[in-house]
Amino acid sequence: MEQLRIQIEQYEKEIENAIVSTKDELEAFRIKYLGTKGLVKSIMGEMKNVPADQKKMAGFMLNEFKISVENKFEELKSAVGEDSGEIIGTVDYSLPGDDLPLGTRHPISIVQNKIMSIFQTLGFAVAEGPEIEDDWHNFSALNLPENHPARDMQDTFYLNEDPAWLLRTHTSSVQIREMQKGKLPLRIICPGRVYRNETISARAHCFFNQVEGLYIAENVSFADLKQTLYFFVQEMFGQDVKVRFRPSYFPFTEPSAEMDISCLICGGSGCNVCKKTGWVEILGSGMVHPKVLENCGIDSNKYTGFAFGMGVERITMLKYDVKDLRLFSENDIRFLNQFKAAY
Ligand code: DAH
Repeated sequence: MEQLRIQIEQYEKEIENAIVSTKDELEAFRIKYLGTKGLVKSIMGEMKNVPADQKKMAGFMLNEFKISVENKFEELKSAVGEDSGEIIGTVDYSLPGDDLPLGTRHPISIVQNKIMSIFQTLGFAVAEGPEIEDDWHNFSALNLPENHPARDMQDTFYLNEDPAWLLRTHTSSVQIREMQKGKLPLRIICPGRVYRNETISARAHCFFNQVEGLYIAENVSFADLKQTLYFFVQEMFGQDVKVRFRPSYFPFTEPSAEMDISCLICGGSGCNVCKKTGWVEILGSGMVHPKVLENCGIDSNKYTGFAFGMGVERITMLKYDVKDLRLFSENDIRFLNQFKAAY
């Protein structure tokens, strides 16, 4: 009898501490303690060994035990909940939470933000424009009238519904929108996505990002253009990078120049990235064509300006030695994770 009492006390402790979090665990509890071969039944079976004079006391004890097990079962049942099978009442809210893995900024965003902040230190403001553009803002106003051969330089996606509308092929269209507002002097950079009907490869994509720059005031000169872009390159790639300007052609600038930097991969000695020349092109630029100023209602006798445009993917590829443009739009976490420390 004494042994039975000790045993029951032990079981009571065990049951008191029992926790279940799912319906399956609840059922396991029921089978273990209240099932036909469960503990309560088997302890009841002990009654036959209890001496006759103690049976009454033992019966009382066992009954109490059975009731407490049944009560505990009801308590656990309501904690687990009827339908969900999920933990409802037995969560320990004091436990520390699981770490939420933080994402990383996309390399294009990192570089675009860096470009913007460099120009912002020079007093350039950020301006944005629409990705669906009309022919005038994307081409005509930029001195590319209809049938101008330079329109072929950029394969354009026109809208099926109305071919007067297109997906902008460059962010130069934002220049026009800002100049039209008529607030001078004007010093802006325009980041944004652009679209061209190109076959997708390691070096080309049908969409990519550009940052356009524009500075219009009285007496802006080509020297201002050179110094601004030189400052940009040094901030972006470091003090040791060399710069060179090559004469070029863009309908919206005159004179026009493309800017190269010394190859970051080989340091200028010649490699595959720079095609053995030691130089890589990073942007187009020039003095805003007087016709473009006039198209936007700006007096080209009073005002001059410079403009430039660069591809963000290209700068990113050079900065981080990325060899395939397609990586930027594939969302491969193994690629993106490498930029954790970059901002
Ligand atoms: N819009 C040109 C392009 O997409 C880039 C460019 C060149 C922009 C010269 C300019 C510029 O503002 O002056 O290829």
